[in-house]
Amino acid sequence: MASRKDKPTVLVTEECYRRGKEVYDSVKDFEIVTSASNEAILAAKAKDKNAFAVILGPDTYSGPLYEEMNKGGVIARFGVGYDGINFQKAENRGLLVTNTPGVLETTVAELTVFLAGEILRGVGEASKELKNGIWNPVPGRELQGKTWAILGLGKIGKKVSNILSFGFGVTVYALKKNTSNSEKIKRQHGVEKLSSDYAEIAPHADIVSLHLPANENTHRFMNRSRLERLKSGAILINTARGALVDENALYDLLKDRHLSGAGLDVFGNEPYQPIDVNKDLRKLPGVVLTPHIGSNAKECSRRMTERVLQNIRFALEENYEQMDLVTV
Ligand code: GLV
Repeated sequence: MASRKDKPTVLVTEECYRRGKEVYDSVKDFEIVTSASNEAILAAKAKDKNAFAVILGPDTYSGPLYEEMNKGGVIARFGVGYDGINFQKAENRGLLVTNTPGVLETTVAELTVFLAGEILRGVGEASKELKNGIWNPVPGRELQGKTWAILGLGKIGKKVSNILSFGFGVTVYALKKNTSNSEKIKRQHGVEKLSSDYAEIAPHADIVSLHLPANENTHRFMNRSRLERLKSGAILINTARGALVDENALYDLLKDRHLSGAGLDVFGNEPYQPIDVNKDLRKLPGVVLTPHIGSNAKECSRRMTERVLQNIRFALEENYEQMDLVTV
């Protein structure tokens, strides 16, 4: 570990640095070193700079990075999902893993609702046409009065529910593994129906959004059979993880119009590349795609940067109680 007289080195991927540049540039207590997000490069820099902590985006890190970190250091996720972290390797090396909950839920929830709004009213397409000299007022659909299934009622799912139920007059159904306390949750978040059974929730909805963590139990959760059970004309929104969806099956069901649209911010391959070149989601109408921007709003990026750095300070102070420690 760096001597306490030196400033501890915090390694940060270039993408994460860009999102919090102003904050990083004003930091006095750490030496901030940027790196490409590629694991081999990060690992080499971690060794070279004797890094105490490394700040990572959502990519997968399964190899040499852990061995090159200082024992007792921090793997600090800039974001909430930790499916890219190898907890066994982190533990073997005595590394702490943190994330940034509590500061990004509203931002991701807003994008979830905006994607649905975009599909329902065709805003992007209409704007593109108008700019090309085409005045083509295509009728859209309202959000009010629709039924929306939220799959995964964690912090983000709850925010989505609040916005939809209390703001837009949407009937919210929610899928939740543990349904204890359900009356209180329903009241607080405007949920009409709460169940742990997919069949009771998703097939009744006009719009379905995913808010599950990515892990071995949820891999391709939206497989062909679950997608086929959605109501005809339903819209799927995914601002969680690409691994939750069978993209080839989604393509087929959009193509034959069983589903009328999809709003996707996350993909099996990021940057997006179709899993099967013949099933390219970019070529389908009614599909809105964004490049993993769920939490990428200026206000949110600042909050996340402050939080990710604060977690590292807490680790140096051995103030584990206040850290956003992640254990699996
Ligand atoms: C973003 O993908 C996150 O995990 O917060």
